[in-house]
Amino acid sequence: MKPYKRTTVTAALPYANGPIHIGHLAGCYLPADIYVRYLRMCEKEVSFVCGSDEHGMAITMKARKENVPPAVIVDRYHKMMKEALDNFGVSFDIYSRTSSEKHAEVASSFFKKLYEKGTFEVRETEQYYDPEAKQFLADRYITGDCPKCKSADAYGDQCEQCGTTLSPMDLINPKSTLSNATPILKRTKNWFLPLDKLAPKIRSYVESHPKWKAHVIGQCKSWLDSGDGLQPRSMTRDLDWGVSVPLKEAEGKVLYVWFDAPLGYITATQELHGENWEKWWKDNETRLVHFIGKDNIVFHSIIFPALLMEHGEYILPEDIPANEFLNLEGEKLSTSKNWAVWLHEYLKEFPNKQDSLRYTLCSTMPEAKDNDFTWSDFQLRNNSELASILGNLVNRVMVLNHKYYDGRVQELGNLEVDKNLLNSIRNQRDKISKSLDNYKFREGLAEAMNLARLGNKYLADEEPWKKIKTDPDRASQIMGTATQLVAAISGIIDPFMPFTGEKMRAMLGVESIKWNDLDGRVLVMPGSQVGKTELLFDKVEDHEIETQKAKLKK
Ligand code: MF3
Ligand code: ZN
Repeated sequence: MKPYKRTTVTAALPYANGPIHIGHLAGCYLPADIYVRYLRMCEKEVSFVCGSDEHGMAITMKARKENVPPAVIVDRYHKMMKEALDNFGVSFDIYSRTSSEKHAEVASSFFKKLYEKGTFEVRETEQYYDPEAKQFLADRYITGDCPKCKSADAYGDQCEQCGTTLSPMDLINPKSTLSNATPILKRTKNWFLPLDKLAPKIRSYVESHPKWKAHVIGQCKSWLDSGDGLQPRSMTRDLDWGVSVPLKEAEGKVLYVWFDAPLGYITATQELHGENWEKWWKDNETRLVHFIGKDNIVFHSIIFPALLMEHGEYILPEDIPANEFLNLEGEKLSTSKNWAVWLHEYLKEFPNKQDSLRYTLCSTMPEAKDNDFTWSDFQLRNNSELASILGNLVNRVMVLNHKYYDGRVQELGNLEVDKNLLNSIRNQRDKISKSLDNYKFREGLAEAMNLARLGNKYLADEEPWKKIKTDPDRASQIMGTATQLVAAISGIIDPFMPFTGEKMRAMLGVESIKWNDLDGRVLVMPGSQVGKTELLFDKVEDHEIETQKAKLKK
């Protein structure tokens, strides 16, 4: 890893065409948030930026379906996504949006710079045009018979029956979905990014990051090494929803959504830091890290870096810890089939249980391969891990402190067992650091839970409830030691389960904890008074799980 002073962390801008579901969370927003919370606890300088992606087909198709302007759609979902992510504890420093005036300025001036440098190749091509709707047709707006499997209603970019990637010209009997008219071919001019010419530079950039996840490198390689190699890609589109191309001769055209969206990270940074934004993007001592799902890989590892390179003033992405996909009850998540767990609904149906979902999603995070979320697994993890291991430890320590000492924190012990327990705080912390530095969030969380397990074992072995009668001095030391452990756990779990960490610290009367403090030192003053005991995790009942499963089937 290069030496660095600060980190710019981005999370993929979600399309504002629907609410956030658990797939988005496990793939991108949760790992990004854990990582950033960890960096902040380490007192590292970090900016965490995100926002809504409000252009592109995803939006215009939804608008067409509802027969409202795209602006109505993006306003609705921008608000909804921002709120849900915030309520779930995703701690963006800013959550912006790409339909803003400011973003149009940022994206057009970036485009102009490349234009002036002569980066783009202007090409005239023939594109399908709908003579009735009087507009050019995006690939998704054209359907026809699949040339390969012959099934009807294949899209201009893909046949969903056989999975073949298509281009609109491949379709047999093409039809416009706007008017049902047969599209005609019409010449149009667009500005292409010559990825073919840039390929050697892109290749050496990718090869200079051998530590990227295997599946990320795999996708890059398969693009770079595909039969025809990298192909020029148009950065402009004949559409009316998007950032206008800032050229006289490009009237009625907008920037390609994958040109403008990643620049949304830069817009958000400018909004966050005002005049001081540049060091977050243009300083060699800044590390740029993109959290994304696997469908976004090539855009962040090839196309966006190519744009940044061509511009010349920017640093390039250092890490792209993309996740794979999360399935739900064995099947692919699908917005259109309503096969999803929507975050805003979860937050309503399981109030104050953000951390139960954060815990389950982190434990099953699709870090290296696709993974499955099931409601039974959620129940099991909440009841048998969170409640039985972590909740139980905290509850016992709180209750015994109140019962024996009126809530007064005791001095710690210094027997071998006590020292070992306190040493394990540092050991676990260091293991977790290593995991998180390598984007291994499941492993990190498992080690955090192991610390709670060690606490339970310590109490079970030392039995303060027996010693309170036979050796009260020793009982006091045990409780003093266990109380310090609980305080340390509140810090160690904080990146993963911030709501629980905060509740625990409120109970113990401890202010914020730094990662550096997690070395076995005293975190809660002996002699101080702990607060009221609160239950951290209540059980998820069978009927709640049944309700959720039934809801999916509907
Ligand atoms: N909106 C895209 C998606 O949901 C992600 C955009 S990421 C960014 O797949 F780089 F463009 F910001
Ligand atoms: Zn097909």
